[in-house]
Amino acid sequence: MDVSQAVAERRSIRAFSNEPVATETLTELLVKASRAPSGGNVQPWRIFLVNGERMQDFRSHLSEWTEPETPAYRVYPEGLKEPYRSSRFKCGEDMYALLGISRDDKPARYARLAENFDCFGAPAAIFCYFDRQMGPPQWSDLGMFLQTFMLLATEAGIDTCAQEAWAAREKCVSAFLDPADELRLFCGVAIGYRDTSAPVNRLVTDREPASVWLEVV
Ligand SMILES: Cc1cc2nc3c(=O)[nH]c(=O)nc-3n(C[C@H](O)[C@H](O)[C@H](O)COP(=O)(O)O)c2cc1C
Repeated sequence: MDVSQAVAERRSIRAFSNEPVATETLTELLVKASRAPSGGNVQPWRIFLVNGERMQDFRSHLSEWTEPETPAYRVYPEGLKEPYRSSRFKCGEDMYALLGISRDDKPARYARLAENFDCFGAPAAIFCYFDRQMGPPQWSDLGMFLQTFMLLATEAGIDTCAQEAWAAREKCVSAFLDPADELRLFCGVAIGYRDTSAPVNRLVTDREPASVWLEVV
């Protein structure tokens, strides 16, 4: 598989089979992904890999955790402008349409969102942390790492879904992972093999035409 093919084929997968992925395979992909560029070669990513039995322990931890928390950061800006707002809206509506969930069926929508907090049934996950000292340029470096990892996973036939949703559960996740105090959570990534029968995995998101975001000057 060449890079163009990996870029074209990677999609967010939101229902996984229980087929396991070897820790060695995932470690290898993560090490390869660390060739991702970062400003000044700071390499701000700090990754926690949860797999196999530890994933079961993690799920037990999640089910036992009752402490309410406020999100570690706001995922989208307040009053998200157009055309960003419509892009976000359409992606959600296309997903709910595939699942046959209507706009006013709030319980079904919440239940779907809550699947984030089961990593969509994935057998493995990574949690991507960085030092509190870091600012927006280093957040973007984390994005470099994540996309590199996700493309390498695609090449290896492994599916992923990045998950900022975990910003709403940073305390809970950190109570399990026990990161150093100076680390904060950016996001998780659910990892495994897609459930080919799940309608949600048929979602192919749109992209804006280049005329929206490209100016050749
Ligand atoms: C940093 C990041 C965080 C994301 N967080 C979530 C999330 O919490 N839950 C979710 O279902 N999808 C999440 N996504 C997936 C996006 O919704 C998805 O990438 C976008 O709709 C484009 O679809 P595609 O990945 O299938 O191309 C996230 C993606 C990125 C890059």
